[in-house]
Amino acid sequence: MGIDVLVVGSVNEDIVVSVERLPGPGETLLASEFALSCGGKGANQAVAAARDGVRVAMVGSVGDDDAGGRQGAALDGAGLDTRWLRRLTGVPTGTAFIQVDSRGENTIVVVQGANAHVTLPVGDVEPRVVVTQNEIPPAAQQEAVALAARTGARLVINAAPAPESPPPWYGAADPLVVNEHEAAQLTTSDETGAELLRRLRERTGARSVVMTLGERGALVDDGTEVHAIPPVVVEQVVDATGAGDTFVGVLAARLARGDAVVAAASAANRCAAKAVTWSGARPPAD
Ligand code: RIB
Repeated sequence: MGIDVLVVGSVNEDIVVSVERLPGPGETLLASEFALSCGGKGANQAVAAARDGVRVAMVGSVGDDDAGGRQGAALDGAGLDTRWLRRLTGVPTGTAFIQVDSRGENTIVVVQGANAHVTLPVGDVEPRVVVTQNEIPPAAQQEAVALAARTGARLVINAAPAPESPPPWYGAADPLVVNEHEAAQLTTSDETGAELLRRLRERTGARSVVMTLGERGALVDDGTEVHAIPPVVVEQVVDATGAGDTFVGVLAARLARGDAVVAAASAANRCAAKAVTWSGARPPAD
């Protein structure tokens, strides 16, 4: 079976605490409960792409603990090709500690666990699109970039979480996808909007760049000009966790189907808006 989108990335178990407001430094807050759910930027992106109807394979690592079993089963259940999802002995599955406030804003701290050991044992495969992000080691990201170059696949890089400075392989991204914080960090610039986007493209050399703006939509520099993707209004924001991953996953799926980057980003923006209306990083099961 052919693969449309190959995601090389992280798989986490998310430990989610709901709080009225996010705590400040040195502050202790009480919360009534926590929930375990499925996460990891790579895995969330892979599931979002599969939900959009394309064939998706996930390259990543989990541990041989209970969390690894749960996360592997969830990816199988989402219809992903998991033949390159490795279960590593004696290593914990990646874990994200997430606080979500009553406005749906969050803070996330990730313990990398098995994600620190991702490698690319991928054999004879020619995906249309390769996707990677920054919760796995730089060497694994570079392997993903090399695979895309070797097979002629389109390369989508999500610079999340943002590295200290842009690595040279960001130049191969088409597009590089960031949010505003990541764009500011990568450029060390206090510019905003289209100026920031242009600065990021100059700084990274990426062939195209997409910047998500949350409730304000997105901006796309397709290599020729900057396009504004209008906001999509939702009735109630429940939880913004994973909305950016939904964006990247749907973007990749649409690019795999042959859409141009602006059309793909429009569809991704609509799906990301929907993603803030449910709790957790992944859509509820049908
Ligand atoms: O983008 C949201 C994701 O970031 C969460 O699922 C968490 O696991 C972290 O990787």
